[in-house]
Amino acid sequence: MFEEFAPAKVNLTLHVTGQRPDGYHLLDSLVMFASVGDHLAFKRADTLCLTVDGPEAHAVPTDGNSVLSAASLLDPQSAAHIHLNKTLPVASGIGGGTADAAAAYRGLSKLWGLPAPVPTAQTFAHVAKLGADVPVCLFSRSARMSGIGEQIVFLPDLPTLSAVLVNPRAEVSTPAVFKTIPRKGNAPMAIVPPTFANQAEFVSWLELQRNDMQDAAVAIAPVIAEVLAQIAATTSCQLTRMSGSGATCFGLFPNDQAAQKAAAQISVTHPDWWVQHCTLGNNATS
Ligand code: C5P
Repeated sequence: MFEEFAPAKVNLTLHVTGQRPDGYHLLDSLVMFASVGDHLAFKRADTLCLTVDGPEAHAVPTDGNSVLSAASLLDPQSAAHIHLNKTLPVASGIGGGTADAAAAYRGLSKLWGLPAPVPTAQTFAHVAKLGADVPVCLFSRSARMSGIGEQIVFLPDLPTLSAVLVNPRAEVSTPAVFKTIPRKGNAPMAIVPPTFANQAEFVSWLELQRNDMQDAAVAIAPVIAEVLAQIAATTSCQLTRMSGSGATCFGLFPNDQAAQKAAAQISVTHPDWWVQHCTLGNNATS
């Protein structure tokens, strides 16, 4: 049996810089990976099948699932039993389904004795067929992502961050948010310095960047504004922003204790929200 961790993907910045003739949007995003995520296990079987458990299992389709699409892309003839322990909320802007597809691609490569994926333009273009965020999730390393998501530059020296992730249990449709963005040709992200002296300097740099999908997502799901306000109101929160197309938002904190305290504070006032404290970094899986 092989196991893979599918960490949540957090877009610390997300600039929408244009739109291709086929409708896909050009993005410029700094992505880091969380210490929280889904867990997958792979073993040999006579057919291809997927079983799911965990706190978020109820929302996962076992037909047409991104995990099964990854299996078909890798080898449509081969079989396996894939088990998914689902802890990330679906359609939430932190890449749950995408990270699962990427983890399935890695795990099944091992199970089926295929070469381990290597980070080349060819690999990224191939796995982008599963979704625009799959290339960055395949290696779960901090990266700058551009194009529609298939151009990846790893950023190995970013400081690790202490964070809180909050989802108000509002599912947001990514295409709907893209449609609502008023301006498609926004300025790209600033050049990412190769190193930052410390966490505070990194956060100051992040403050000058944006998520161009945030206002559009708030217009669709106004509860996102409340999430941002609740995180910002916690003790020692340095920065808060939405991830991806929402509705999950993150807060950054000077250390793990502060993040843990903030998560506890939000959970008390909003017991119905999904709230997790975590670190953001490479959380690389192989
Ligand atoms: O690639 P993925 O299946 O995750 O994308 C879902 C939808 O989001 C696409 O069908 C498209 O409408 C939109 N999208 C986009 N530009 C991107 C990524 C996604 O317009 N770069």
